[in-house]
Amino acid sequence: MGGGILVKKLYAVLGDPIGHSMSPFMLNDLFSFYNMDSVYLPFHVKSENLQDAVKGLKAVGVGGFNVTVPHKSNIIPFLDGIDELAENIGAVNTVVNENGQLIGYNTDGPGFLKGLNAILPNLTGQKVLIIGAGGAARAIYFTLAKENTQRLDIANRTMDRAIGLINDCPYSVDSRACSFEEAIESLGEYDLIIQTTLIGMSPKIYEQPIAINNVRNQSVFCDIIYNPLETQFLKDARQNGARIQNGIDMFVYQGALAFEKWTGLFPDVERMRDNVLKQLGGKTC
Ligand code: ATR
Repeated sequence: MGGGILVKKLYAVLGDPIGHSMSPFMLNDLFSFYNMDSVYLPFHVKSENLQDAVKGLKAVGVGGFNVTVPHKSNIIPFLDGIDELAENIGAVNTVVNENGQLIGYNTDGPGFLKGLNAILPNLTGQKVLIIGAGGAARAIYFTLAKENTQRLDIANRTMDRAIGLINDCPYSVDSRACSFEEAIESLGEYDLIIQTTLIGMSPKIYEQPIAINNVRNQSVFCDIIYNPLETQFLKDARQNGARIQNGIDMFVYQGALAFEKWTGLFPDVERMRDNVLKQLGGKTC
């Protein structure tokens, strides 16, 4: 038999743990759907091996890779460059091999925004509350800070962390930090509320960060959690008349934006969503 072995382009996701990641299903399906000779593999990389892993991927000519917990910030010094938004957020979830240089991007915040735009196309003049001040909140806050909102407030258990996040942001936006008690009190003032903590994630599905009892008419409640598909937080919001969006959209769109950066093609997000839901074994809310 003649002919050489087909050399597939390698894509990857690095994390610790990594076994639960749904990205390989989602991305490998796209590569085969678009007839691209590429493969996307999960790698379990401990923090002490992160630099070696990055060097190794660069040496074998990786097309690009995703980075997940706990490496999103620690990877930055090992890259050749970083884009402005990712640098300001201080976290990278997508790396692109650009002519031999590994460049870091953050598609978590933009992915959230793109998913949100499907139900809320324009944030101009909107009053927005983010619950939580961790890594996910940071990516979302920095992204939404450029969207001409009227307010972009943060409620967090630890107020200093919310204040720190607001002060770190280089984009000018009207913001204040508040406690969960204040958030419960003023919930009815907001057009959009985004839950970014892991409270309510399986198996502790009956927990929620704040009680929901006053909801503005036509307001939108988002939760970045997708397991369960409808958290207690979203359930209460829906029962109070709000429109709701779960974390599937953010997950799918951050992957779609990564795929676009690697291949130049913005993929079929409905296909991605169906694939993820199949993996989760449920249906969207
Ligand atoms: P991630 O990077 O995934 O966002 P993180 O940086 O650990 O995770 O942030 C978790 C967020 O969930 C924080 O806002 C955290 O609040 P604190 O800043 O006060 O720690 C919030 N959080 C986690 N567990 C919580 C709990 N039991 N009650 C209230 N907030 C909680």
